[in-house]
Amino acid sequence: MDKVPYLLKRNVFSYYNQELIFNELRFLKSIMRGPEFTDSATIDNKILKSNKGIFFHHLYNNPSKFSPIWKLCSDKIKKSIVEYREKHMTNRNIMTINNMWVLASYYEKGDYYLPHRDQTIATALFWFNEEEFDGGDLTFDDTNETVKYENNSMIIFPSWAKHGVNKVSHEGRYCVTIGLLATNK
Ligand SMILES: [Fe+2]
Repeated sequence: MDKVPYLLKRNVFSYYNQELIFNELRFLKSIMRGPEFTDSATIDNKILKSNKGIFFHHLYNNPSKFSPIWKLCSDKIKKSIVEYREKHMTNRNIMTINNMWVLASYYEKGDYYLPHRDQTIATALFWFNEEEFDGGDLTFDDTNETVKYENNSMIIFPSWAKHGVNKVSHEGRYCVTIGLLATNK
């Protein structure tokens, strides 16, 4: 089988912007809730993830104005859209997106996300951690690929790609997930 035509970027944000992001993440962590409140993928009604999270639209009235994470991450996606599109012909459906949601998640020791597919056109993940740990890597399960979790990375991948997060060995795995959608307005 072909490989998943994902776009991976390391060292995405400057030190200063990472500080802004970590400040917001630390605040968000204090109000995150369990997977039953954050739209977890399920199989036979079984929740597939163990982590905590919060949707930005549950918190901010105008996140593009008040959230550094929203602003910085959505700007980075906009700048990367053409490069993602050119990875594979099937990535061209990214040009239809007109909507997005943002979810911040935090994984503690032993947390994971079992393999699933997203209900999006494409999904962007941004990774942030302050301490080193093993695990928490992204797996693409149709193609047996693994992408190592590293601070200050971004990956955009198509929603048809089955993916998961392997178990983390230590607390401290932050992830900002942005679902890229095409919706009727
Ligand atoms: Fe997912």
